[in-house]
Amino acid sequence: MNAPEQVATQLIRLNVNGAVLHLAAAPAQRLSTLLRDELKLTGTKIGCHAGDCGACTVLLDGQPVCACLVAAGQCAGRGITTVEGLAQADGTLSRLQQAFRCMGAAQCGICTPGMLMSAQALLQRTPQPSEVQVQDALAGVLCRCTGYRLIIDAVLLAAGTQAITFEAPAAGQAVGARLPRLDANAKLRGTEAFGADTLPASWPQGGVSLRIIRSPHAHARFTLGSVAGWLRHHPGVLAVFTAADVPNNAFAIFANLRDQPVLADGLVRFAGEAVLALAGDEPALLAIDERELPIHYERLNALAEMHQALAPGAPAVHAAFADNVLCRGRVVRGKIEPALAQAAHRAEAGFETRAVEHAYIEPEAGWAELLTDTEPPRLRVFASTQTPYMDRDELAHVLGWAPERIHIVPSAVGGGFGGKLDLAVQPLLAIAACKLKRPVRLVYERPESMRSSTKRHPARMRAAAACDAQGRLTAFDFQGDFNTGAYSSWGPTVANRVPIHACGPYRVPHVRALTRAVFTHGSVAGAFRGFGVPQATLLGELLMDELAAASGADALEFRHQNALRAGDHTATGQVLHASVGLQACLVALRPAWAQALARCKQHNTQDRPRKRGAGIACMWYGIGNTVIANPSTVRGSLRLNLEGNAELFLYNGAQEIGQGTATILPQIFADAVGLPVACVEQVMGDTDLTLDAGKSSASRQTFVSGQAARLAGLDLRAQLLEALGVAEPANLRLEGSALFAHAGGLNVCLDLIHLPRQAQGDVFTGQGRFDPPTVALDADGQGVPYATYAFAAQIAEVEVDVELGTVKLLHIHAAHDVGRAINPTLVEGQIHGGIAQGIGMALMEEYVNGRTDNLHDYLIPTVGDVPPITVHLIEDPEPLGPWGAKGVGEPALVATAPAILAAIRHATGVKLHEVPVTPSRLRAALLELK
Ligand code: FES
Repeated sequence: MNAPEQVATQLIRLNVNGAVLHLAAAPAQRLSTLLRDELKLTGTKIGCHAGDCGACTVLLDGQPVCACLVAAGQCAGRGITTVEGLAQADGTLSRLQQAFRCMGAAQCGICTPGMLMSAQALLQRTPQPSEVQVQDALAGVLCRCTGYRLIIDAVLLAAGTQAITFEAPAAGQAVGARLPRLDANAKLRGTEAFGADTLPASWPQGGVSLRIIRSPHAHARFTLGSVAGWLRHHPGVLAVFTAADVPNNAFAIFANLRDQPVLADGLVRFAGEAVLALAGDEPALLAIDERELPIHYERLNALAEMHQALAPGAPAVHAAFADNVLCRGRVVRGKIEPALAQAAHRAEAGFETRAVEHAYIEPEAGWAELLTDTEPPRLRVFASTQTPYMDRDELAHVLGWAPERIHIVPSAVGGGFGGKLDLAVQPLLAIAACKLKRPVRLVYERPESMRSSTKRHPARMRAAAACDAQGRLTAFDFQGDFNTGAYSSWGPTVANRVPIHACGPYRVPHVRALTRAVFTHGSVAGAFRGFGVPQATLLGELLMDELAAASGADALEFRHQNALRAGDHTATGQVLHASVGLQACLVALRPAWAQALARCKQHNTQDRPRKRGAGIACMWYGIGNTVIANPSTVRGSLRLNLEGNAELFLYNGAQEIGQGTATILPQIFADAVGLPVACVEQVMGDTDLTLDAGKSSASRQTFVSGQAARLAGLDLRAQLLEALGVAEPANLRLEGSALFAHAGGLNVCLDLIHLPRQAQGDVFTGQGRFDPPTVALDADGQGVPYATYAFAAQIAEVEVDVELGTVKLLHIHAAHDVGRAINPTLVEGQIHGGIAQGIGMALMEEYVNGRTDNLHDYLIPTVGDVPPITVHLIEDPEPLGPWGAKGVGEPALVATAPAILAAIRHATGVKLHEVPVTPSRLRAALLELK
């Protein structure tokens, strides 16, 4: 929650977006609060309230400022421009906004207003900026999605003179088109409603805020004193909710592991765990000194490290898991010991990774209201989520209600990456709204978001790999422990997914891969773009380089020789029948690899303090859930809209989190129906309107929900042709309220106005369901865990200052087999964004609970940290995917960090066995090498 702001007001004259206003405001009030709360200009976003993220950037007399750091009184008599003031008076997007739209420079869109305003200020003072000037201008705004390069390109495009146009694809031409995001306009205008941007209709008559009191201790028992007595002395506080107020006080990702309380019940297991929920007036809540609350802690021994938790006799984090091992994963194929013993070359190493924070720019936020016009009442929850249906089901469990009584209306999601798969504000809002029978709002501040949310699993791994004299891999033996923190969250997924992927995308006849997910009293680890595979790939690719060197092979050619190809068995015994594009990726990278090595060699011939290196890494990634059912159901209709015009309508349950499902699924659906994508309108994620399309996770939405959208489109088309009385081939078009077909030399018309309509105006409705075929794994992990895999190879070129230990990235080349690029612009955007997160993982990101709970102590890549990126899209079609498509969201990240570490090894000779490779760690390793 924001710090209290001074309440004495004075009349302040402002010019906001050209309108002169006289406002009564507290002079010390943040400008961002004034804009958002008083003027409802919620395009100015709040990511940190500390000037770190820049999402709230506005122009003050033409100069970019963080509105969260400017007092309202400082703005008296001055001009303020917000993102809402960028478009022309008639609503036409400005050239800068059009350039962002064209380049795909807005993904989730939460940073976009800050980026636009910073760029606008630059273009006003420097109409023809250089790339470096653009980077300097954007340096104060963080983006967690895009990797920045497309934003730079957009600003340079806006500064140029070429026309910015896009020809909408014709019927049947949407798949493969670089269609601008269908949700781009709202993101660029600042009208997209994120979790903190709206209030329920019943607000403010009786609306209340929540403040969550969290444990300062990693492990403690606690008792509550007289809460009623405390309440009597705090008249602005309406209620204090404790564990006793929660009907079923446990939730989880997996229904059989519900171990995380909504509010702790006498025992806290990590620092940041929710203990109490206070409801009341926001100023009254803000004024509370937590030390005065009647909570009495008794600190206990905290096992925050895995070796502590796994030590013999260590106390159990959860009584049901006496050894602190939540679960184990296992894949065994062949005979590992003899294969290792008989190998011509063998490499062995250990590797450690640290907790990584999602650092989405939008902190968790939302509201809930009880709907009493039905009996029994229902609950509506508006919040930032990757998984509307899981939210519905877990809230139903927590409340003890039927799921149908919960209505989830997802907000726009300002970045997720897996972090918004775990329930955050939702159950707290649900309990308070039901108890108080009043609308309730909760918005996390940055430190609360970082302390309470899940992290990438810290891992401790060891592996040995072997090959024969010809450089053919023969064996891979892996063991890894993954610190899942205080609760199970996605620990089982990580423990199961890692052994399947551990040996990499290579032909390896003898494999043993064993994992454990370990409870500790650290931050809860959950889903984060890759589910443990990025950690394991760091170790696996290190060993590939060592074996390549031992066998005298080039690093790329060693990988090419061993790469999986169609017809091969994987470590789980699965036969890959099609869409195995790794060799094609490596072939695409050969020229760049040769040139990079040559550049490094030439540079390093002179004795310089800065050495250059090039590294390569490969990855593979199973698309969708591991073995367990993974269905998506999508519905689409031809309907009459309120204006009486026929339109295609998509009931799209695949939640948009910046990755593009709001655009990809309409492209797929429109082509399946055979009408232009411009005809498609949609609703997304609303559990009362859409069907369950599963979670936006595991890179599954394009493959699984995309195929369901295609099947829905085909179903609808079949109905339309039947109603028209024509057969294929047929060309369809819409005009006014009518559907026209040209088929068999005839023109046929069907006017929807004469036909019966269902709810929402639907006249014809098609439905598609797709559940990728898998086969359960046996005790040795043998089976078919995924229907398809994505493959990729990336090259990193770096320059290392061997005296300071700093690493500068020079270029990333990324070749990705995506099956089919439904929208190449969006696919490239995902790859750029994944690479940026891979850079963070490799070089700077390490979350330490209580020490890095903000965006100035926790570093993520800025615009200056991401080098130019060259993307090669390989399209080896997947027969099960919609028009051959697979997924790319997580695969984009996995190869980046190992490629960077390989490049550092190449430049310096230093073999690093942990990330992040901070300057101090690298300098220490360089000194040791000397
Ligand atoms: Fe920049 Fe999401 S688009 S943070």
